[in-house]
Amino acid sequence: MENKQGKTPQESAVETRYLLMPQHANPKGTAFGGVIMSWIDMIAGLAAQRHTGCDVVTAGIDSLSFKEPIRIGEHVTLRASVNYVSRSSMEVGVQVTRENPYNGQKTIATTAHLTFVALDENKKPTPAPPILPQTPDEKKRYRNAELRVKSRKELLKKMQQNETEKKD
Ligand SMILES: CC(C)(COP(=O)(O)OP(=O)(O)OC[C@H]1O[C@@H](n2cnc3c(N)ncnc32)[C@H](O)[C@@H]1OP(=O)(O)O)[C@@H](O)C(=O)NCCC(=O)NCCS
Repeated sequence: MENKQGKTPQESAVETRYLLMPQHANPKGTAFGGVIMSWIDMIAGLAAQRHTGCDVVTAGIDSLSFKEPIRIGEHVTLRASVNYVSRSSMEVGVQVTRENPYNGQKTIATTAHLTFVALDENKKPTPAPPILPQTPDEKKRYRNAELRVKSRKELLKKMQQNETEKKD
């Protein structure tokens, strides 16, 4: 794999913009959650692929918070960056902003954290290059992601212990 030396979050960050059209909306005229989720998955995957330089798959969506509705005609900006790398897995954070096209007012509409796994030529998990946070914001996102990853792993372990005890 290329670039085992690692990359900064900025080097693989991705930003894109959509116009919310009627086909993206629910009957109330605001964004359909499934459409926003697919945009989030796509941009997060692009950031993970730019970071690793190899194939990646979505292993899970760890958090998704719809904070504000987005209306037809508004601009939708998505920003994704790699927050944290474990071994083959990495957390990507996505922020979705709605923008009023007439006055430029911006509001964070949705936030999400997703886990992607880097795959080798045989489609097996392979180590991802380290992430090298530089700015205070990037370092904060790294520390918070590390906490989320650790607590997810601890929760999984406890649930597996529960299952074992149930069988005994
Ligand atoms: C994700 C996947 C590759 C993991 O494969 P696996 O054989 O379970 O591999 P491992 O147990 O060795 O785990 C590999 C890594 O994935 C992580 N992982 C596995 N399942 C996970 C999950 N549900 N959520 C978060 N991380 C997960 C592990 O913690 C491990 O991380 P690490 O290497 O950083 O320590 C496999 O489950 C898969 O292919 N899933 C389907 C993916 C898919 O189709 N996505 C939708 C379309 S892109």
